[in-house]
Amino acid sequence: MPTLRRLAALNDADIQAAATLLRDAVAGGASIGFLADLDHAAAVGYWRSLAPALERDVLCWIAEEDGALLGSVQLGPCHKANGRHRAELQKLMVHRSARGRGIASLLLAEAEHAALADDRWLLVLDTEDGSSAEHLYQRRGWQRAGALPDYARSPDGRLHPTVLYWKRLRHTADT
Ligand SMILES: CC(C)(COP(=O)(O)OP(=O)(O)OC[C@H]1O[C@@H](n2cnc3c(N)ncnc32)[C@H](O)[C@@H]1OP(=O)(O)O)[C@@H](O)C(=O)NCCC(=O)NCCS
Repeated sequence: MPTLRRLAALNDADIQAAATLLRDAVAGGASIGFLADLDHAAAVGYWRSLAPALERDVLCWIAEEDGALLGSVQLGPCHKANGRHRAELQKLMVHRSARGRGIASLLLAEAEHAALADDRWLLVLDTEDGSSAEHLYQRRGWQRAGALPDYARSPDGRLHPTVLYWKRLRHTADT
């Protein structure tokens, strides 16, 4: 099974490997913010641009096995005064060659554990309506809140609905 490592700062080897992972996800049709023309330089640029956020507050984990980066996930805490109990799960991706082995579940569990440790007991995310990720979230206890029509484009450029999911990690005195 892969091991997880938190990326607080990005070195060049991590950036190159993460860029390859991102391009694989996009090539596989994942709607995670990019179109099919994402080249390696742009993918590297995305990870480099993330560095300040990682140093500040965004949590990012990668799953590695035998030196290969197989998956990744990010958790962004909300800093609004009325939202300090929540965080957004973003960019969960597993390399196509490593899917179906429980790696996304491992990454999700780590992100949920860290969220709770930071007293972020409400998590939200969005994903493409009908995507394989929906199966995963539903199996891991996430609730579907609804769909936003034409919210984003798939890598092939077609508009698709985006669905919002939430998961309450624990109940509080005021719920
Ligand atoms: C969605 C994704 C992260 C799943 O990664 P994974 O490592 O293959 O997932 P896991 O092996 O942990 O699977 C977890 C559960 O989801 C189910 N699942 C995963 N992919 C599935 C699919 N395509 N169809 C049906 N069920 C699926 C598995 O059966 C498993 O359930 P189980 O534990 O009860 O058997 C991966 O397919 C991916 O990277 N997709 C592209 C990126 C993407 O869409 N990310 C979501 C952005 S919000």
